Amino acid sequence: MGDFDILIHLEKIKFAYPGGRAVLDNLDFEMKPGDRIGITGPNGTGKTTLFHLIVGLLSPLAGTVQVFGKARVVEDDFFDVRRRIGFLFQNADDQLFSPTVAEDVAFGPFNLGKTRHEVEHLVRSTLETLSIEHLEHRITHKLSGGEKRLVSLATVLSMQPEVLLLDEPTTGLAAETEKRIVDFLLGSGLSYIVISHDLDFLNNVTDKLITLKNGKFESL
Ligand SMILES: Nc1ncnc2c1ncn2[C@@H]1O[C@H](COP(=O)(O)OP(=O)(O)O)[C@@H](O)[C@H]1O
Ligand SMILES: [Mg+2]
Repeated sequence: MGDFDILIHLEKIKFAYPGGRAVLDNLDFEMKPGDRIGITGPNGTGKTTLFHLIVGLLSPLAGTVQVFGKARVVEDDFFDVRRRIGFLFQNADDQLFSPTVAEDVAFGPFNLGKTRHEVEHLVRSTLETLSIEHLEHRITHKLSGGEKRLVSLATVLSMQPEVLLLDEPTTGLAAETEKRIVDFLLGSGLSYIVISHDLDFLNNVTDKLITLKNGKFESL
């Protein structure tokens, strides 16, 4: 049995890296359709770890992870989760691996079994959404930091996710690039969770702000 009106439900999550202290300790979290949640908190407090637990890149030591109304335990459970949740990594270099921008943005949809025609359309429309059509044929590793961020977001969006997890999407970006991300988020109609240290940014794009501290959430 699952909670069908809850997108993400974490209960009593405990997590520690091997040999380390507890990063998350008895943590509860809930995300409903339409939620736009901001997560902030000191460096090293487990914010990125939390995202990795939601998409199954890490497993909790104790507690349960439910996504889209189903308990997610083993690797197979997370295929569907990773298809429907778009995860923007904290570091764009972890996200981009193809020689060109077009290939990177096409990779996800190709993997989902879309036709060449559908993929070409998706690549073009995704780049247009972020106003980066001009980057389509560029060599990925030669892009600037801000361009890499936008292309990373494009690789996530081309999979047409239902929910976004964005890990420090605007850190280190020029105001103009940040504005594109803000405009996209506000116009997207998507449910999302954003990790950031920038409270102005979070106030702008989210409705609910929580702080992760000492392994637990505190409401702001
Ligand atoms: N792969 C890892 N192995 C061991 N410790 C890690 C690893 N990744 C992160 N940590 C540690 O876990 C804690 C939480 O990290 P992280 O989730 O990245 O924090 P945040 O995103 O809030 O800055 C930190 O103390 C960090 O050093
Ligand atoms: Mg982090």
